[in-house]
Amino acid sequence: MKILITGGVGFIGQHLARLLIAQGDEVIALDSLHNQVHLDPEGASAAFPGEVFVGDVSEASAWVNLPDVDAVVHLAAETGTGQSMYEQDRYHRVNVEGTRLAAQWAVAHQAPLMSMSSRAVYGHGGFLCEKHGMGHGEPCCDLARPVASTEGDPHLPVSVYGETKSLGETVAFDIAQGHIPLTVIRPQNVIGPGQALHNPYTGVLAAFLARLREGRPISVYGDGSQTRDFVHVQDLAALISWAIHQHDDVGEPLVLNSGTGERTTFAIG
Ligand SMILES: NC(=O)c1ccc[n+]([C@@H]2O[C@H](COP(=O)([O-])OP(=O)(O)OC[C@H]3O[C@@H](n4cnc5c(N)ncnc54)[C@H](O)[C@@H]3O)[C@@H](O)[C@H]2O)c1
Repeated sequence: MKILITGGVGFIGQHLARLLIAQGDEVIALDSLHNQVHLDPEGASAAFPGEVFVGDVSEASAWVNLPDVDAVVHLAAETGTGQSMYEQDRYHRVNVEGTRLAAQWAVAHQAPLMSMSSRAVYGHGGFLCEKHGMGHGEPCCDLARPVASTEGDPHLPVSVYGETKSLGETVAFDIAQGHIPLTVIRPQNVIGPGQALHNPYTGVLAAFLARLREGRPISVYGDGSQTRDFVHVQDLAALISWAIHQHDDVGEPLVLNSGTGERTTFAIG
């Protein structure tokens, strides 16, 4: 298959591209080579194992001269949760308008679409409390314990990033449903080699690593008992590959969480 990967020059895109090539697929990328992500845009672009078209997914002109493909993987996005709170217009334009154009292009080319969402659509997620029972969103009291999110959970984003990912899903459903196979994947925190440490998305791992490299102690806010689900980028790449090769139902979009189901605390020792 020939596969277009938007944001293909980024962290997940590069891993996915290498996996697809190893499986015998052909890849091309549409990527703006965002200076917030790439300190060496030329080097990053050269590392992508296929042709790179430089353009902004939220501009219609970027989509005009792309070649025909057999599938589209839409990864390009503004990804900084904190930054999204003060760069709202940019996040809406890239993450919602960009997804609209990706879905329209995929439908026009009758290419199956995998559109990348995030666990951020769930916000705080669900909890179980021995006093108040099950709930979602802001925990009811100190007895509330987090529970794993399921795909049917309500969207209660607590950041503009999460809000734009949720809106992006709606846009993709509205445009693609009934026309092309559509898969939406909501990954947990993705880890693995090649993450840009200066990307605002990389968050706590970048902060820890920068301090360790300088021989300084790391700072953990709170008591370290906060948890995250870390999923390896190669497992996510395998899931995306499965979705574009195997999900062929035009009528019913597929929505998948991607995580390990294992909680990792930040507490050390
Ligand atoms: N990394 C994670 O932990 C994680 C978790 C959940 C969801 N996601 C989602 O996965 C996708 C890929 O994330 P990543 O970790 O590879 O991010 P990344 O920042 O490493 O890569 C994003 C790529 O998109 C490109 N890009 C940004 N804006 C663009 C635009 N307007 N037009 C074209 N290209 C643009 C960047 O240049 C970069 O190459 C994103 O949609 C992100 O929201 C990532």
